[in-house]
Amino acid sequence: MLPDLPLIDSFGRLHNNLRISVTDRCNIRCFYCMPAEDVQFMEKSELLTFEEIERFVRVVVPLGIDKLRLTGGEPLVRRELHTLVRKLAAIPGVKDIGLTTNGILLADQAELLYQAGLRRINVSLDALSPEKFRKFTRREGFEQALAGIEAAQRAGFDPVKINAVSVRGLTEEELVPFGHFARKTGVEVRFIEYMPLDADNTWERGKVLFAHEIIETLSSSIMPLIPVATESAQGHGGPATEFVFADGIGRIGLIASVSQPFCLSCNRIRLTADGKLRNCLFSLEETDVRGLLREQGHDNELVAAVRASILAKKEGHEINTARFIQPTRPMHSIGG
Ligand code: 5AD
Ligand code: SF4
Repeated sequence: MLPDLPLIDSFGRLHNNLRISVTDRCNIRCFYCMPAEDVQFMEKSELLTFEEIERFVRVVVPLGIDKLRLTGGEPLVRRELHTLVRKLAAIPGVKDIGLTTNGILLADQAELLYQAGLRRINVSLDALSPEKFRKFTRREGFEQALAGIEAAQRAGFDPVKINAVSVRGLTEEELVPFGHFARKTGVEVRFIEYMPLDADNTWERGKVLFAHEIIETLSSSIMPLIPVATESAQGHGGPATEFVFADGIGRIGLIASVSQPFCLSCNRIRLTADGKLRNCLFSLEETDVRGLLREQGHDNELVAAVRASILAKKEGHEINTARFIQPTRPMHSIGG
């Protein structure tokens, strides 16, 4: 066996965070992530089984991976997802399992997921009105998503966060309602700058509503936002900068992926639903893990493949440069 050295890349970044996409399917069609119609989905046989995912996680945990997040597509359309959560929660060394969902199927599954060992949920919800929801998602589902958030809080999930992609021309009028929603419900609302990962290739820098604009609007319309000292503020932990309103009520997070890239503190790797390892959201190359899992490969081969992927990780994305090339996989088949 190779010694269990941590996963450090050539820029000194330590990787402890694995995001696992369990499907590229989704029950809605957010424009920043999927085409509106005629999506080519992966074949069932291409998807990693829960047993294959479990084995991969068992192999990478000794290398220092201790945080997992299940993503999609929409992870809750994968049947019996709670059984995967249970398998992963039982692996010694796994400290934290999260889920990113659009919330539409959450009301039915929140309790089961909690019992299986899941504790953290992020619900992707870009608007607080059904009309605006339709503009983002090109489908129905606003009421179900809200019901999902409530059910998650009731089931005991802590934290429950909302991820809202911030898009110029759409998000501005959602800011104040979201601010009040955060204050009323205790849900942290995080705004993520719109990134070029859409299937339609229509992203432009001018379509991003920037984090600093969001802080200014919320501060002047509700009350000043005060930065919260968090792990991420010190350079480790997640990519969000967190704020609280001056009276201590209502948390807002900002993920300034475009205006202030956080690549130099990135601690993440991603496993796609069809078993490819990606060292960056924007990487143009990936490492086939499914082949190794299915050819009865030895654990050592998997470890070597993961290390090679980490060593090949680039310094960061180049969204803000003319060199930028958008990956051919849109967001729903990467996993967010
Ligand atoms: N830009 C920014 N965020 C995105 N997400 C999906 N596509 C994009 C994009 N193009 C968000 C989803 C989800 C999270 C994983 O990433 O809303 O909450
Ligand atoms: Fe579905 Fe999430 Fe993509 Fe929206 S962002 S289409 S909810 S996978």
